[in-house]
Amino acid sequence: MRFLVLGATGTVGSNVVRELLARGQQVRVLTRDPARARALGPDVEFLKGDLLDPATLRGLYDGTDGAFVVNPVSQTEASEGLMAVSAAMDSGLKRLVYLSVQHADRAPHLPHFGSKLGVEAAVRAARLDWTILRPSNFFQNDHWFRDAILQYGVYPQPLGDVGVSRVDVRDIAELAAIALTQEGHAGKTYDVVGPRALTGAETAEVWSAALGRKVAYAGDDLEAWEKQSLQYLPAWMVYDFKLMYRHFQQNGLRGTPADTATLTRVLGHAPRRFEDFATETAKIWTREGAAAAQR
Ligand SMILES: NC(=O)c1ccc[n+]([C@@H]2O[C@H](COP(=O)([O-])OP(=O)(O)OC[C@H]3O[C@@H](n4cnc5c(N)ncnc54)[C@H](OP(=O)(O)O)[C@@H]3O)[C@@H](O)[C@H]2O)c1
Repeated sequence: MRFLVLGATGTVGSNVVRELLARGQQVRVLTRDPARARALGPDVEFLKGDLLDPATLRGLYDGTDGAFVVNPVSQTEASEGLMAVSAAMDSGLKRLVYLSVQHADRAPHLPHFGSKLGVEAAVRAARLDWTILRPSNFFQNDHWFRDAILQYGVYPQPLGDVGVSRVDVRDIAELAAIALTQEGHAGKTYDVVGPRALTGAETAEVWSAALGRKVAYAGDDLEAWEKQSLQYLPAWMVYDFKLMYRHFQQNGLRGTPADTATLTRVLGHAPRRFEDFATETAKIWTREGAAAAQR
């Protein structure tokens, strides 16, 4: 079968492509930048285009059996998602997996949560087999914090002390590939979470153990986080993420034992643990650091 993967040059989409190829499926991707898509390998067919351009939508899904839809956090996220879904409906697409976010409905005032609720509503109303994945915060976000962790011994993500059931992107991608290629997932919404909710301080402790040196939690001060973040992120994004971290600090973003049981059943293995991700990543960072020092 052939599947269209949107966001295929990004964090989640690239893993979905890998999972589909590993299952012997054919993959088409959409990209604004073919050079990035070529890095996905010679077996991947790519189309150049932009979801916000109606010309791109014509024929986008032709000859495909299903699609994975993810839209990055942006000020046009809702439009991109709705244009992808409406074009899928027009094309008669049979199956669609949409990447949303855990507890989108509990914090609809967050711009990037509320945007997804609108797209979820369109997905549910579409006459096709749909599956919605609602992941927690990704383990892989910590690659953005590599310098803070390694150079300054600080874990900067203000996760708070209620707990966030962060998840490995590889589990999300596996689940997407399963929902696209196997029966039994139509009309289902899955919260995609890790096996344990961790606080900010616990997350720093896991990094300390993985690296064998102290990593301190930067704390819950969102004013300080905002000031720091405005140096490298656009103001609209800092505004959105500050609301998100306030939500995490007040309510957490915790999975339930039932979520873990469902994921274990569907994936065929328990969701990956943050401790294992940190150990694996610390080894890679240490190896890369040693190689750079020799150059
Ligand atoms: N990070 C987290 O902890 C977390 C947790 C839960 C949910 N999420 C959700 O996950 C999503 C982000 O996923 P990600 O991290 O995989 O994204 P990402 O790495 O930023 O990748 C974005 C992808 O979208 C494509 N893209 C962007 N604008 C496009 C357009 N106008 N037309 C066509 N393609 C376009 C890009 O392709 P090209 O550049 O090649 O065109 C790229 O492949 C967000 O919706 C976020 O809310 C994230």
